[in-house]
Amino acid sequence: MSGEMSRALVLEEFGSLPRLMDRPVPEPRAGHTLVRMLAAQVAHLDLNVVDGAFGILPDLPAVPGTNGCGVVLASDSHPEGALVRVNGKGLGLRRDGCWRDHAVVPDAAVTAVPDGTDPALACSFFTPAGTAWAAVHDVAAVRPGERVLVTGASGAVGALTVQLAARAGAEVIGVVGRPAKLAHVPAPAKAVLAAELSPDAVGGQIDALIDTVGGLVLRDCLGLVRPRGRAALVGYTAGRELTLDLADWLLADVALLPVNLMNRGGEVAADVEGLQADLTSGELTLPIERHAPDRLAEAVRRLRTGEAIGRVVLDLS
Ligand SMILES: NC(=O)c1ccc[n+]([C@@H]2O[C@H](COP(=O)([O-])OP(=O)(O)OC[C@H]3O[C@@H](n4cnc5c(N)ncnc54)[C@H](OP(=O)(O)O)[C@@H]3O)[C@@H](O)[C@H]2O)c1
Repeated sequence: MSGEMSRALVLEEFGSLPRLMDRPVPEPRAGHTLVRMLAAQVAHLDLNVVDGAFGILPDLPAVPGTNGCGVVLASDSHPEGALVRVNGKGLGLRRDGCWRDHAVVPDAAVTAVPDGTDPALACSFFTPAGTAWAAVHDVAAVRPGERVLVTGASGAVGALTVQLAARAGAEVIGVVGRPAKLAHVPAPAKAVLAAELSPDAVGGQIDALIDTVGGLVLRDCLGLVRPRGRAALVGYTAGRELTLDLADWLLADVALLPVNLMNRGGEVAADVEGLQADLTSGELTLPIERHAPDRLAEAVRRLRTGEAIGRVVLDLS
C-alpha cells in the first residue's frame, strides 16, 4: 500500500467541520486490521465529538466516525476480503475513526457481517437497534397489551423502538415534531404531532414512554403517563434539560429511567445481531440517507436540524 493515497475527513478544531484531505494509506500492523471502508455512519454522538461536547474526546487532528463498514485488506485475525463492521475500542473517540477510505483498527473492533449485507445498514443499525432493544425490553420492560408512547418516532432509534415495542405486543403511539414526518412513523403505530399532544390525541393514559428527543417534548409527554408508569429516557435532540417540580413528580409517580447503550451493549449484542437479518429482509425497516464524503456539511446540517429521516451515512465506496 505504501505510496497510495487515501481520503480522510480530518477534524482540526472542535466546533469546525472536518476537512476532506488526502493522506497516505495507513500501514497494517500487528493486532490491527486494515479495512477499506465502504460506509460510515454520521450520528449525534459523532457530532458531539466534532463539537468538542462529549466526555471522551480525541487529541486533534483526528478522524471522527464511531461506526463503519468495509472490506478487510490485511489482518492476522480476519480473512482478507471479508465484509466487516468496525466500531468500539475508542474508534472515533480516543483514536481515529471511520470517516476515511482506509482505516487500521484494533482487531477487537472488527465484527464479521454476512456477505451481501448493505454496508450502510451494517454500519448504522447496531446503535439504534441496540438502543431500541434496551429501551423496550430492559429499561421500559414493555409488556403485551401496554400502551407505549415513543417520541422522535421517525428517527433512527425512535422508528426501531416503535417496531420493537409493537413486536412486544404493545399498542404504540409515535410522536413526531413536524407534519412531514407523520408518514414516516412505522406501522402499526398511530402517529401524532408533538404540538398536538393531549390525552385525547394519544387515546388515554400511557403505560410507558420511550423518549428520544428530550426538552419540552419530554416534559409534555411525561404528563400523559399513568401513575406508576415508566419513562425510559434515551436522547436529547430537542433539549438537554428537564426541569422537575419534585412535588408534582412525586404526585405523578412516574419512574424516570436512563437508557445507556454504552453500559448495555454487551448484554443486548446477541439479540441485536439477530435483528440484522430482519432489517435486510425488510421485516424491520430503518430508513438510511446516503451522502458522499465531500457533502459532509449537508449530511451534518440535515442531522442537526432534524430534517434527516432515519440514519445518515457517508458513502465511501
Ligand atoms: N442513550 C443512548 O445510549 C443513546 C444511544 C443512541 C442514540 N442516543 C440519542 O438518541 C437520540 C436519537 O437518536 P437518533 O439516532 O434516533 O436520531 P435521529 O434519527 O436524528 O432522530 C432524532 C429525532 O429527534 C427529533 N428532534 C426534535 N427536535 C429536534 C431538533 N431540535 N434537532 C434535531 N432533531 C430533533 C427529530 O424528529 P422530529 O422532527 O419528529 O421532532 C428527529 O427525528 C439522540 O439524542 C442520540 O444522541 C442515545
